Amino acid sequence: MARLNNKRIVLGITGGIAAYKSAILLRLLRQEGADVQVICTEQAASFIGIKTLAALSGNPVLQEFSDAQTGAWHNHVELGNDADLLIIAPLTAHTMSKMAQGQCDNLLTAVYLSARCPVMISPAMDLDMYAHPAVQRNMQCLRADGCMVIGPEEGALASGLSGLGRMSEPESILEAVCAQFNNGPKMLHGRQVMVSAGPTYEAIDPVRFISNHSSGKMGYALAAFCASQGASVTLISGPVHLPCPSGVQRIMVKSAAEMHQACLDSCTAQDFIFMAAAVADFTPAEPAEGKIKKHQASGQLLLKPTRDILADMGAVKPARQTLVGFALETETGTDQALDKLHRKNCDYLVLNSLQHHGAGFGGDTNQVSIFARDGRKKELPLASKTEIAQSIVEWICLNS
Ligand code: CTP
Repeated sequence: MARLNNKRIVLGITGGIAAYKSAILLRLLRQEGADVQVICTEQAASFIGIKTLAALSGNPVLQEFSDAQTGAWHNHVELGNDADLLIIAPLTAHTMSKMAQGQCDNLLTAVYLSARCPVMISPAMDLDMYAHPAVQRNMQCLRADGCMVIGPEEGALASGLSGLGRMSEPESILEAVCAQFNNGPKMLHGRQVMVSAGPTYEAIDPVRFISNHSSGKMGYALAAFCASQGASVTLISGPVHLPCPSGVQRIMVKSAAEMHQACLDSCTAQDFIFMAAAVADFTPAEPAEGKIKKHQASGQLLLKPTRDILADMGAVKPARQTLVGFALETETGTDQALDKLHRKNCDYLVLNSLQHHGAGFGGDTNQVSIFARDGRKKELPLASKTEIAQSIVEWICLNS
């Protein structure tokens, strides 16, 4: 069944190379039954043909406040008020900056300021531009103004570089749009959530590393559920082979040190943090620069402790933030769980016990207990990791 029947969507396109993907997004939105009005900036029109967009949407593409030939006025207030959703994809650094400052020197930015409907943005730019503090400030500002941010993702960029800045795939944006219209209470609407997931790789030399069996499935399920509940989700992921959940901004890291940096960079802005990653506790003290040859190896590996990310985040935790740690124990583990909860200044600790059949690494099911700082405890029965993620988030949101 078409999921977007009777939905009026304004699709804003700005001038980046990713604009070619907007044609695919437009087609997907139409296939789901949406009525789509495209608004292009002047720059966008130099990246993608207006005729293509007009044909795919079945509506004339709007660019100016009025039609140069007929003088017909494209009323930005009506466009903004009548829409059920405004999506801007791709969103360039330039238009992002104008939106953050409330400038409206073209039809699209005027529609943005007039819009009463939810607004989704899908940034796309080169990795250094995206990482620039000015762009990050503007992103924070738009998030605080209520924009839902889809992506960007890591991957190959038009510049030939590779990194964070690639526009999310049209299919992911479509899923986020459909989730937005999936009625029902959204318990994390407007909240910022960070989730860590997966293992870390600690290099012995350029070829070998120390790691663990974490699949990342629990963390990814948490990130996906939080995004479906309206949160702006940042997923800090160790090396796993899972696709980025729709509507989630993913930052891929390898080592515990990289995960530490990524988590500490983003943690203070978050309302909820779920630290589900299986971070290595030790790392080789002196990783070799070249591959260690058999005849050179001493047979002993000197390790040094990694920094405890959860404890470091606990030490700088703002009062409004809910910090959730995870622990995997091979025994029942209640005492260890409570010890970790207090030692790392968490509000909740989710305990997996490897004693339970069907719980823990790799599989698709889990069985956990949640311990709250104030002494309450909730035991969840064996269920899929998707269901467990939902129950964890629901219980913690209800009790926070
Ligand atoms: N954790 C972390 N940084 C580390 C090690 C662990 O942030 N360097 C986090 C994990 O992501 C998890 C929680 O701490 O949320 C508990 O992890 P666990 O390995 O069970 O705790 P440890 O303090 O390492 O205790 P131990 O290994 O002695 O059981």
